Amino acid sequence: MIFSNLKLNKNEPIYIQIKNHVIDSINKGDLKKDSKLPSTREVSKFLSISRNSVIAAYEELESENIIATKRGIGTFVLAEGRNNSHEYFIDYSKSFNKYAYSLKHLDIIKSELPYKKNMISFKSIAPDSSLFNLDDFKRCFLDAFAYEGANLLNYGYAKGYKPLIDYLFSYMEDKGVNSINKDILITNGFTEALHMILSSLTSTNDIIVCEKPTHNTALKIMKSLGLEIIQVELDAEGMNLKQLENTLENNNVKFGYLIPSYNNPTGIVTKVKRRKEIYNLFRKYSVPIIEDGFNEELLYSSSPIEPIASLSGEGNGVVYIGSLSKILFPGLRIGWIHGDAQLIETLESVKRGINIHSSFLDQSTFYYYLKNGSFNKHIKNVRKYYKDKYNLVMEMIEKHIPYESVLGEGGLHVFIKLKNNLNARELLELCYNDNVLFMPGDIFYKDFYDTNGLSIDGINTFRIGFGKVSDEDIITGIKIIGKNIRILENNLTKSSDNK
Ligand SMILES: Cc1ncc(COP(=O)(O)O)c(C=O)c1O
Repeated sequence: MIFSNLKLNKNEPIYIQIKNHVIDSINKGDLKKDSKLPSTREVSKFLSISRNSVIAAYEELESENIIATKRGIGTFVLAEGRNNSHEYFIDYSKSFNKYAYSLKHLDIIKSELPYKKNMISFKSIAPDSSLFNLDDFKRCFLDAFAYEGANLLNYGYAKGYKPLIDYLFSYMEDKGVNSINKDILITNGFTEALHMILSSLTSTNDIIVCEKPTHNTALKIMKSLGLEIIQVELDAEGMNLKQLENTLENNNVKFGYLIPSYNNPTGIVTKVKRRKEIYNLFRKYSVPIIEDGFNEELLYSSSPIEPIASLSGEGNGVVYIGSLSKILFPGLRIGWIHGDAQLIETLESVKRGINIHSSFLDQSTFYYYLKNGSFNKHIKNVRKYYKDKYNLVMEMIEKHIPYESVLGEGGLHVFIKLKNNLNARELLELCYNDNVLFMPGDIFYKDFYDTNGLSIDGINTFRIGFGKVSDEDIITGIKIIGKNIRILENNLTKSSDNK
């Protein structure tokens, strides 16, 4: 009897237990297709339950086409058990191409020390989600539906949501950027934008010039596409002009990739004069610039600086990538490319080929948030909030961290170079044991591993991201980092005394 191993419990209706038992028996192969089930009377007697429960179970199974009753003959199984599948297995680890291997190898989320609950983490430079005004956002979500209706849930246009594009044109104009013969494409954040541009306009071994150090994700994209990277040193004013000119003169450079406002990781804001000089060098050698404008809005220690794109007037030498991810809703994944209209026309097809378009529901909600003043209100709030945090971080660093240099004029991070060439990875290990985490600086350099797997560039540097860290944790965390630096320094003194 198929029900002999059914143990009824008191928590679920009996007819559901009978139904599930039949389905399980089919899936396990105990009940084959076309086999006959015992009658409802037999089952009720066997299990000492009401016949109505068995009838209800059989009726449901019949309505789902799992069994069928033939009048006067009996009830039969219609469905095949899942165990009828004939599996085969592939070793996918052998199928990945170079592109996938390199992205996996460079995936710092998988290779760096992981965050554990209750740690003080200075690792991220994400904004603090407690600053997001949910009521304002919900209102904008409803506004989006009120204006656009169900269309928002249908397919949209690859280029993006038209009202958002128009808004961004005037946003760029306010930054002094000319839009004659230019267009805008909405992307899934900065990251997709950079990937689309580089994968569409470069070939393996093409050369990209960027700052030293620079955004790890950008390095990762360049490496995965097989591009050659030349990093040019930064000083407090921006890129070193001599090195830049030398690089542009002696190499066939395909693109420059620049983060002039709050370079990640150093937080250096390239000064106005230097922006002009850098722009003029790229112009002299006819090399296009990809400008990453990700953090412009967070400038709080000086008056707003116009992007490099504002210097090119009606020219098309600068492709600007915008993203508000460090201020507003990085989870929405909205960014944009502003650049030459013909370039955007092709990138529009690339976007359609990759993922059709970015979510219209998100774009529309984001648009109403920008348009109705919520964004400006938010910016004022966060500038004050992060500025206070930045000041606290700097105060604590001055008190507790013996540094060679500390860089960063605001934004959501500062970058520290340790004295005596102390190893920031050794420091990280000590801090990790004390539940404190930060981002080692070597990952922002293109050669962050030598052939022995040991880091060679930026090994004495690290980044402190403070956007999401409470004041209390900033104080405790930086004290702990300082304590561990002193331990490393003492070890260094002891080992040189023993020589
Ligand atoms: C230099 C730089 N650009 C842009 C971004 C934003 O990227 P996305 O818009 O893909 O979140 C970040 C985020 O960390 C960044 O560090």
